[in-house]
Amino acid sequence: MALREVLQFPDPRLKQVSEPIKEITDELRELAGDMCEVMYDEPGIGLAAPQVGEGVRLIVIDTDWSDEGNEKSPTVIVNPEFVEIEGKIVWEEGCLSVPDFNAEVTRSERVRVRGLDLDGNEIIEEAEGLRAVCLQHEIDHLNGVLFIDRISRLKRSMYVKRRKKQLAAEQSDDEVDISGSRF
Ligand code: NI
Repeated sequence: MALREVLQFPDPRLKQVSEPIKEITDELRELAGDMCEVMYDEPGIGLAAPQVGEGVRLIVIDTDWSDEGNEKSPTVIVNPEFVEIEGKIVWEEGCLSVPDFNAEVTRSERVRVRGLDLDGNEIIEEAEGLRAVCLQHEIDHLNGVLFIDRISRLKRSMYVKRRKKQLAAEQSDDEVDISGSRF
């Protein structure tokens, strides 16, 4: 089966606030599985459900994995919420939904996140450094926030301009393709 497509900025669905999950169903488990597949395929270290067009509060992360053969150990969190945040850290972030761009973002250095696993058991995730950054980045997605919403206005508008140009160029490429296959 084909992998789910990752939505890209400026898709308006990335701006929506996702709904809390009321019941853990087989469908939700399947979605979590699909999200892990997409995350490892890209590859990325985290993915939030709205990035694949599902507006529910579900994230997957694996900050230890690299494609050089480490074992995969995804953490799936249903309805994640912060119970503690502490400190300050600056990290260079990128996002599977924000093509061709990285920027430094200031976030909390340590977090404690509460949520449910796919069996409905409460889990507490304590993290610092990259893993804390990743959790904050993914939970932002659930609130319709991208990392480019957390950088300076100038940097953001430069990226938005570049991205619009890129999209316009892709569109004109498509037009060339279409005219080339007219019979
Ligand atoms: Ni992201």
